[in-house]
Amino acid sequence: MINKVKTLLGEDSRIFGFLDFVAFKFGYHARRRRKFALNYYAKKISMISSWSKKRTENYNFYYDITEKNLVDLCHLMSTIFSEDYKIIYSYANELKMNKGLISFIHGEFADDPKMKDARVAFARRIGWYVLIRITRPRLVVETGVHQGVGALVIASALMKNIEEGSHGRYLGIDIDPNSGVLFKGEFAEVGDIKIGDSIEILKGMSEPVDLFISDSDHENEYENNEYEAFIPLIRDNSIIISDNSHANSVLADFSLKHNRNYFFFAESPLDHWYPGAGIGFSIAKKDN
Ligand SMILES: C[S@@+](CC[C@H](N)C(=O)[O-])C[C@H]1O[C@@H](n2cnc3c(N)ncnc32)[C@H](O)[C@@H]1O
Repeated sequence: MINKVKTLLGEDSRIFGFLDFVAFKFGYHARRRRKFALNYYAKKISMISSWSKKRTENYNFYYDITEKNLVDLCHLMSTIFSEDYKIIYSYANELKMNKGLISFIHGEFADDPKMKDARVAFARRIGWYVLIRITRPRLVVETGVHQGVGALVIASALMKNIEEGSHGRYLGIDIDPNSGVLFKGEFAEVGDIKIGDSIEILKGMSEPVDLFISDSDHENEYENNEYEAFIPLIRDNSIIISDNSHANSVLADFSLKHNRNYFFFAESPLDHWYPGAGIGFSIAKKDN
């Protein structure tokens, strides 16, 4: 209404100035602006209410990413790893179409009263899967296993590589003796989980690691010390992934210090209130 009057009167009018003053003084201006800004968040806020009543995870949230976000991830990975976009996208689709994996996880959670409403999708872990399919690592280490969703994604990629003749193993490390509940059956045939402090376990290792996924203690100092403990295990082309790069610059700073390239992918969750995490990639420079 006020906007229509303004249009009729023109922006220079004294009446316009008066109406603008009244709109500001009586809160119309603020209400209009608040309504406009809240439009950006209204859908997310409404999701919180239904999510809060469900029996699902309390952290390490499971959700899918938007199709646009997936396409962006595939293009980014195609550029970073000099691999054809269509191949990258087909690997991403291979995981998304793995109905056996999803139904295995949902079957396990159905028996858990705290998780029975959980609906799992892999979000940024699709990038982990694609990376394992294109680089065919011999050893993948993931610090921070939690229930084991990442472990299953990694194991599934390794199993496909093995089917195609490229052998690789998984080592998960978690301080919680109850972690990795999902990592069993055929998945456990491609790797192990060690229980203990990740830095202590890394310090006791000597076998080079091709892909290192850091997702344990997310305190900046701990994360940095984990990367430093990983240095003796780096091969020429070893890749480091941080699951915490949406929240800090630890991997970016580590990469700068050790003359490595760093890239970041930010998630756009689909139908979830969580703002999204991401993938920090640290990669050896070609001339290193
Ligand atoms: C975010 S969860 C890991 C999620 C998992 N990577 C996934 O994809 O679902 C973090 C895990 O790190 C573990 N953690 C915390 N501090 C640790 C430490 N010092 N050493 C090893 N694991 C640790 C926790 O027990 C927890 O299970």
